[in-house]
Amino acid sequence: MQQIQSALTPVFDLAVRLFHWLQVLLLGGLWYSAEQEWYGIHQLLAYTLASLLGARLIWGLIGSETARFRHFVPSSKQLRHYLGTKRLTAKSPVAGHNPLSALMILALLLLVTLQFVSGLMTTDEVMTEGPLYSLVPDWLSSLAGSWHELGFNLLLGLIALHVLAAVLHQWRGDKVVSAMWHGRKELPANTPAPRLLNSFKYILLVLILFCGLLGWQGSAVWPLVVADLQTIGVL
Ligand code: HEM
Ligand code: HEM
Repeated sequence: MQQIQSALTPVFDLAVRLFHWLQVLLLGGLWYSAEQEWYGIHQLLAYTLASLLGARLIWGLIGSETARFRHFVPSSKQLRHYLGTKRLTAKSPVAGHNPLSALMILALLLLVTLQFVSGLMTTDEVMTEGPLYSLVPDWLSSLAGSWHELGFNLLLGLIALHVLAAVLHQWRGDKVVSAMWHGRKELPANTPAPRLLNSFKYILLVLILFCGLLGWQGSAVWPLVVADLQTIGVL
């Protein structure tokens, strides 16, 4: 920890911000591709998101201070203290995730992970099967199929709450949305600046996971992607 001098202190590294905004884009793409029944593109986007997510989970153990779960997952005491102080949206800016948004973040990470895992066991009952579909018992693939639809609706509900809370914080002066965009935030005087690492290792982890997933499933997914692109008229 070092004392800060400037008005805006770096609080989020590139890894956290890249993961966040690419995740938003990819979830939009995953929903749209499922609506259009472009399941090749759907799977390709899912493997891309899984690589970003897997690397983010590892980054939560080895990454910058504000990215680490140990740093931002609150104890019940910290949570009670945070909730006990004045109005919810008028609290002092925190150098990283605040204790309440940390809980929402954990729920979002869990739901996206479950969405991916359930997708691996899902079928559209036409020509797309997740790679684990035929390997697991029927009751599990049927549960995964139901969850894949239900879980996404749950995810949408939590995302709506998450965005509402973020916009309220921004509006009340704790500029969390700007911080998630450019990485910097105005903190109370003498707040120690968090230690941020170079995000190169995160990007490397994403690439390794992506190559691993495509090494596993690429030969099944590419023909479907090409077929989708032909349907769309791009090829
Ligand atoms: C698909 C929609 C979204 C999902 C799944 C999502 C998920 C997440 C996750 C997982 C984090 C933690 C990031 C990390 O530590 O790696 C986060 C943080 C954050 N997100 Fe989102 N997000 C979504 C959309 C948005 C949007 C549209 C906004 C802006 C209006 C937003 C604002 C924020 C902010 C400000 C934080 C930091 C919160 C804090 O300071 O504690 N998110 N989000
Ligand atoms: C985080 C990643 C994922 C998200 C957000 C996601 C999202 C969705 C959504 C919103 C639907 C439409 C659900 C409905 O209304 O019926 C869907 C359907 C589907 N997804 Fe995913 N998906 C993901 C990962 C995967 C993966 C990894 C696979 C397979 C490898 C997959 C395969 C399918 C299939 C086959 C369907 C059609 C299910 C049906 O017709 O009932 N998804 N997905």
